[in-house]
Amino acid sequence: LAEASNGALGNVPTQVADVNQTSPELEKWVDEVPRPSVLKPDGRKKGKSYYEVDMRQVEQQLHRDLPPTTVWGYEGQYPGPTIETKRGEDVYVKWKNNLPEEHLLPVDETLHGTGPDVPDVRTVTHLHGANVEPESDGGPEAWFTQNFEEVGPTFEKKTYWYANEQPSTSLWYHDHALGITRLNVYAGLAGFYFIRGKHERALDLPKGEYEIPLVFQDRTFNDDGSLFYPSGPEEDEGEPNPDPSVVPEFFGDTSVVNGKAWPRLTVEPRKYRFRMLAGGNSRFFNLKLFQYDEETQTIGDPGPTMTQIGSDGGFLEKPVEISDRLLLGPAFRADIIIDFSKYEGQSLLLHNNAPSPFSGVAGEDPDDVQPLPEIMLFDVQEKNKRCKRDRSRIPKRLARVPEINPDKAVEERELPLVEGVDEYDRLKLLLGTREHPNGLNWDAPITEDPKVGTTEIWDLINTTVDTHPIHLHLVQFQVLGRRPFDVDQYNADRESGSVGPISDYYTGELEPPAANNRGWKDTIDADPGYVTQVIAHFGKFKGLFKDFTGEYPWHCHILEHEDHEMMRPYEVLPREDGNNLFPDPLVAK
Ligand code: C2O
Ligand code: CU
Ligand code: CU
Repeated sequence: LAEASNGALGNVPTQVADVNQTSPELEKWVDEVPRPSVLKPDGRKKGKSYYEVDMRQVEQQLHRDLPPTTVWGYEGQYPGPTIETKRGEDVYVKWKNNLPEEHLLPVDETLHGTGPDVPDVRTVTHLHGANVEPESDGGPEAWFTQNFEEVGPTFEKKTYWYANEQPSTSLWYHDHALGITRLNVYAGLAGFYFIRGKHERALDLPKGEYEIPLVFQDRTFNDDGSLFYPSGPEEDEGEPNPDPSVVPEFFGDTSVVNGKAWPRLTVEPRKYRFRMLAGGNSRFFNLKLFQYDEETQTIGDPGPTMTQIGSDGGFLEKPVEISDRLLLGPAFRADIIIDFSKYEGQSLLLHNNAPSPFSGVAGEDPDDVQPLPEIMLFDVQEKNKRCKRDRSRIPKRLARVPEINPDKAVEERELPLVEGVDEYDRLKLLLGTREHPNGLNWDAPITEDPKVGTTEIWDLINTTVDTHPIHLHLVQFQVLGRRPFDVDQYNADRESGSVGPISDYYTGELEPPAANNRGWKDTIDADPGYVTQVIAHFGKFKGLFKDFTGEYPWHCHILEHEDHEMMRPYEVLPREDGNNLFPDPLVAK
């Protein structure tokens, strides 16, 4: 382990580039961006909306010229249908697995949670960003197979309960089965879940047909239209053949937005609200609009700027004008207003210059490998009689985001993000603690155990050369900022077993977060060479959220890293008086 960490700087991950697979050449901007359908409740349960959501394998046309692709979709749709909920109204969802016997993509049985005794096709749906009871969180070991015939070690209930006691925001649901999350999500298992409060309705934001969810993903296709995903190490005389060059990341070469490859979106010359989600396996997006000449395929001057009004967990206090680029790490959401009114009759390219997180600070090295510069095209129509008058506006003040006070923190946890090797000598990524600075596996006993109702600061000490988007289940946290530290010294001390308090390694002041990261976040990019500090309150906070206790995961949201053990359980402990739960009313009866 020590050696692998030592060699880290000489061993910059090479992506899974040498798989030599490129998608067939596809004409760009031919299909319109589809809008995911909105799911209708299947009925009421104890006076609440009740949904049943079936996962099925289907064929779906992802591009005009590509043969239909076999995907896995919630309700047979990729991306899944959007679940629309109201703030303060809890809902029930029964997630059902009607997938075939065999996995669509190559399963690597050497990863934790997999193996000959574990069914390959197993699913569990996690509602990302939700303040939720642990039994309904959809943790990695709560998986189940078709008709719940087999279930994982922490499976507790078939019908999940979502409290919706958090600010209005865009959540998303996606698969989370241990050791195969990357494959299940890549196969198509992801969709939006919106929580809307009364307050949101009063804001006069663009709505109806002028509010559009956009999930950005990257995929690579085989010539027959099927999804390509590299297979794990091959067997060698019955033993897995360890290939240390196989690094756990995947980047597709084709932009797919809402399930269409290289799509275009026809818009009126007015304001739109886009609910954006970076939903690729490993890819970061760093986005900006440019004027674009379709005939000559040339990029011109910058297009309209984006105004960000919300982050992962809700509205920002004030709108933030994105002066240059919008950085979206894996699983980040951004609520964005774009005003197309000055671009009548023009085409605008949504351009990305964040090819991978492996460029030091995400998005800062344009020469990095695996770029995906073109995401989608906006086609701004000329004003015509059918265009409705734009009565929407961007309010100066959007919401109150109460600050979590660092002076109230009862604990500051030092949590190194480290590289290690697995038993086959392949790179794996781990999360550690001050006592275990070389990292712990998913199965190691719980080390992070905040008490419900308390505030903690978590120091994400990135000792690797990559940016890791770190996600905590259950809570929406706030970003205090990041501090540069002496990685080499820290790593040297870590390996010699004499690591001191992190403050000994600081080489600079705390840099405050960017304006658009000053709201509620559940996933944050921890850059190499920095300690990224987040603060979380584990429980009800100023009229928002609920108290929940129990076990939840926290992990890197690069799905390949997550599947390679960059994930740990944490536990919210009950108050001493034990009277801390807001139980699911169904179970309580
Ligand atoms: Cu979006 Cu633990 O996941
Ligand atoms: Cu999550
Ligand atoms: Cu990572």
